[in-house]
Amino acid sequence: MAQTAPVAPAARGELEQAPGAVAAGAPLLQVEDLHVAAEGREILHGVDLAVGEGELHAIMGPNGSGKSTLANALLGNPAYEVLSGRVLYRGEDVTSLPPDARARRGMFLAFQYPEEIPGVPISQFLRQAAAERTGSPVSVLEVRVRLREWLDRLGMDPTFGERHLNDGFSGGEKKRNEILQMALLQPDLAVLDETDSGLDIDGLRTVARGVEEVRLARPGLGVVVVTHYRRILDELSPDRVHVLFDGRIVESSGPELAARLERDGYEAWRR
Ligand SMILES: Nc1ncnc2c1ncn2[C@@H]1O[C@H](COP(=O)(O)OP(=O)(O)OP(=O)(O)O)[C@@H](O)[C@H]1O
Ligand SMILES: [Mg+2]
Repeated sequence: MAQTAPVAPAARGELEQAPGAVAAGAPLLQVEDLHVAAEGREILHGVDLAVGEGELHAIMGPNGSGKSTLANALLGNPAYEVLSGRVLYRGEDVTSLPPDARARRGMFLAFQYPEEIPGVPISQFLRQAAAERTGSPVSVLEVRVRLREWLDRLGMDPTFGERHLNDGFSGGEKKRNEILQMALLQPDLAVLDETDSGLDIDGLRTVARGVEEVRLARPGLGVVVVTHYRRILDELSPDRVHVLFDGRIVESSGPELAARLERDGYEAWRR
C-alpha cells in the first residue's frame, strides 16, 4: 500500500510549510550523502541521487544492496533511521517529515511487499488516501468514478475496486493494485520498488501504462524504478540507470547499463 498515514499534521500540533513550495531551479528530488540504518545497522553508506522533473531513473543492484532501504528512506518509513545526509524534494528538506506529509507533497511509494489489510475495500482505502493527498474530503461517488475510469485506462478488471486491500491477492494483483493507487493519487514523484517483479506480460504492460498515463496527466512526474529486470526498462526508457551495491551508488549511466548488468551481473563490483 502507499505511504499514507491517517494522522493529520494539525492533530500533532505541527507547523508545516505549504506543500509544494518550489525552490526555483531545484531538481524534483535530490538525495545528498544519505546514510541510513535499519535495526541499528548502517545499510546506506552515502547515497547521492538527483532526479529532475519528467525524468525516469532506474536503480538496480543485487539482493540486499539497500534498494528498498533507499526507497523507504525517501518516503520516511520510520523503520529506517537517517543517520546523516538529506532528502530534498523540490528544494525543500523533507528528511525529517513523516510519510503522510511527504505524500501530501506528491511523493508516492509502491512497496516491494504490499501489506494485506483485510476488511478494507480498495475503494475505501483509495478514498482515504486521496483525501490525504489533496487535504480535503473526497466523496464516495468521486472515488467510484475515478476508480472506474482508471481501471479501464489500465486495462484492469472493473470489479477490482470492490475487493479488499490485498486480501488473498495474487502477487501480480498486489502489484497492479500499487499502480492503481499511483494513478489515482497522481503523485509528482513515484518510487516503484520492484513493482515489475512476479508480473506476467500483461501485468508489466499495466505498470508501464500506469506510469505513462500518470505522466500524460502530470508531465513533470519523476519516477524512480527499482528493478532487477531490463524488461520493464525496455517499456519505460529510463533517462539514467544506477547501480546500488553494498549501500552505495557505484555506477550511473544510460539505459545500456541495464543490458550490461543483465549480461554480466554484478561481478565487477565484488571483491
Ligand atoms: N527493516 C529492516 N530491519 C532490519 N534489517 C533490514 C531492514 N530492512 C532492510 N534490512 C537489511 O538491510 C539490507 C538491505 O536490504 P534491502 O531490503 O534494502 O535490500 P534490497 O536491495 O532491496 O534487496 P532485494 O533486491 O532483495 O529486494 C539487508 O541486509 C536487510 O536484511
Ligand atoms: Mg528490495
